[in-house]
Amino acid sequence: MSYQIAIDGPAGAGKSTIAKGLAKKLNFIYVDTGAMYRAIALYMIRKGIHAKDSAAVEGACQEVEVEITYQSGEQQVMLNGENVTGLIRTEEVGNMTSAISVYPMVRKKLLDLQRTLAAKADVIMDGRDIGTCVLPQADLKIYLTASVEARAERRYKELLEKGQEPVLAEIAKDIEERDYRDMHREISPLKQAEDAVFFDSSNMGIDEVMEAILKIKADKQLCR
Ligand code: DC
Repeated sequence: MSYQIAIDGPAGAGKSTIAKGLAKKLNFIYVDTGAMYRAIALYMIRKGIHAKDSAAVEGACQEVEVEITYQSGEQQVMLNGENVTGLIRTEEVGNMTSAISVYPMVRKKLLDLQRTLAAKADVIMDGRDIGTCVLPQADLKIYLTASVEARAERRYKELLEKGQEPVLAEIAKDIEERDYRDMHREISPLKQAEDAVFFDSSNMGIDEVMEAILKIKADKQLCR
């Protein structure tokens, strides 16, 4: 059996940085499930589909094939054979992703792929529903969050570094809207699994959170 670590939490809490760092330290594969949803959202944007048009979203979903490959240990997302890894990190794609990930068909499409990846090797997977739905038997579950202010501030700095001209209040508003949608959708909403360990990274550094998770993992294994 592979060892499975599930990390869930809202956007901008540091999940992917922490999961990537842990995967490197532990020699696990890292699976970023948000990227899979983002690839489907990109397809919808390209097709000019409106997120509220459920029939169009479900129809387009049948035309989409998402695959995951690894290049030098980095996850690559393939959309109908095209590597879209570099195209899915925009605010537009992020907002569309949150809006289309409420549909059962979209979620069903990715669930098998996520479980298959987790069965293949020791894995650290991040998303919104990993501990509650995708890998309910995960060996270690983490729920990582941070205040809206801290997350907006981090995103603001990232966008500044990319040469963009972000507006902090708009970023905070987007984050709040996404949190609300991700936490209140009918299927697999974002919530802390009962057996997940809670972290608030508002005032914690990345290394501090990683060290704490590694300690929990080591302690758990002692008790097995
Ligand atoms: O982690 P991220 O910001 O790349 O995720 C983008 C959106 O994808 C997020 O707002 C909700 C959706 N998502 C999801 O519904 N379930 C997951 N396991 C991962 C992401």
